[in-house]
Amino acid sequence: MIFTVAIDGPAAAGKGTIARAVSERFGFACLDTGLLYRAVGAKVAAGMEPVAAAKSLSAEDLGRGDLRSAAAGEAASRVAAMPEVRAALVEFQRGFALRSGGAVLDGRDIGTVICPDAEVKLFVTASDEVRAHRRWLELRAAGEEVSEARVLEELRARDARDTARADAPLRAAPDAVLLDTTELSIDAAVEKAVAAIEERIGQGRE
Ligand code: DC
Repeated sequence: MIFTVAIDGPAAAGKGTIARAVSERFGFACLDTGLLYRAVGAKVAAGMEPVAAAKSLSAEDLGRGDLRSAAAGEAASRVAAMPEVRAALVEFQRGFALRSGGAVLDGRDIGTVICPDAEVKLFVTASDEVRAHRRWLELRAAGEEVSEARVLEELRARDARDTARADAPLRAAPDAVLLDTTELSIDAAVEKAVAAIEERIGQGRE
């Protein structure tokens, strides 16, 4: 069975948490596509040319322990604005999306560019302040010393870059289900995502 769930949205909106939860619920494979850009950004920071970095991504690159840092997110957003870098990562993501048994991918352009035919598309958002607070808690738990105001500023700058870029900008697909998690608990957000997927699976059986 091929069944793709595309989850897009700005930084720290809850995409990753929802993606992991629904993949477990339905037994689908899960790909955090932000990690691909973070790994490319890390290789570029180490001196590699961006397109060569994207073309040579390995499982080892994706397993680096420092990819969740604020610096890695910033580096990712910069390489993600390069069309040749994005092009080098398309095939891998589409192959993943079409694997048998179902797949969930989260990112910025999954429902618009990578998988425009995905069975379910979700666009997950939350207010800037709530997203910054969540990201600040994550960074703090990971031992990064940073103020919440700084996190908010960086998050807004990153969203602005991801939204303004010419190639595959961050935006909701016209047929995406909007999920605003500002006032939703994780469980409630996951349940809404699960309901959208179940509805689509039900339609397939009709
Ligand atoms: O989801 P994340 O914060 O790990 O993503 C890091 C950066 O990678 C994000 O600022 C923009 C880029 N990205 C992208 O351009 N397209 C994707 N599908 C996923 C991430």
